[in-house]
Amino acid sequence: MILAVGNTKGGVGKTTLAVNLAVALALAGRDLLLVDGDEQGTALTFTQLRAERLGQAGYTAVALTGAALRSQVRQLATKYDDIIIDVGGRDTGSLRAALTVADTLLVPVQPRSFDVWALDQVSALVAEAREINEGLRAVAVLNGADAQGADNEAALEMIGDIDGIEVLPTSIVRRKAFPNAAAEGRAVIEQSPRDPKAIDELTALIGAVCISR
Ligand SMILES: Nc1ncnc2c1ncn2[C@@H]1O[C@H](COP(=O)(O)OP(=O)(O)O)[C@@H](O)[C@H]1O
Ligand SMILES: [Mg+2]
Repeated sequence: MILAVGNTKGGVGKTTLAVNLAVALALAGRDLLLVDGDEQGTALTFTQLRAERLGQAGYTAVALTGAALRSQVRQLATKYDDIIIDVGGRDTGSLRAALTVADTLLVPVQPRSFDVWALDQVSALVAEAREINEGLRAVAVLNGADAQGADNEAALEMIGDIDGIEVLPTSIVRRKAFPNAAAEGRAVIEQSPRDPKAIDELTALIGAVCISR
């Protein structure tokens, strides 16, 4: 599986979800490559911290952007079980490249108007990518969702109207467990004290994105 976690918007949880998925798949025994496609290099920084704290990261991480991202991922796809690409923010060049090689694009979206509006740009990039990469699946997930209230539902409904992107019914709620675990180089599934809700939400996400196709 080649999964791109991307959005043209920053701060939506791309890196958080990418590293949590990477760790979960690695712990499940998959030989995993994490590609950091963002110049900010947060996924690599996380991986370095993780390797220092735990002795080893449990997966391989590399930084790739633009055309190199596309050609290298194509080559590396035969060498790994799964590749997760953390990509986006302002660099649509790398996002475009990732979309030409990915099976699935996971788009984290916060249930806020500005974030939902920005999805029109993602929808256009997905449409463009599908001219080359016909089978590309694009899936939006609410991240940093409210634990309760009507905003999640309203956002899900608005996202449902966007062309070419499906919306997952399961959301990831804003929970301290995510930044707390990241600060220690860990995924929420490894973190103690455990946050069972965060773990359940992440497990549901893995089920929806990595298994059902
Ligand atoms: N579900 C969540 N609950 C709480 N904090 C979150 C969640 N997802 C992301 N964050 C926090 O939001 C900030 C931005 O997330 P990040 O993954 O860096 O976004 P991006 O990679 O899209 O720029 C980080 O401080 C991160 O810890
Ligand atoms: Mg990031």
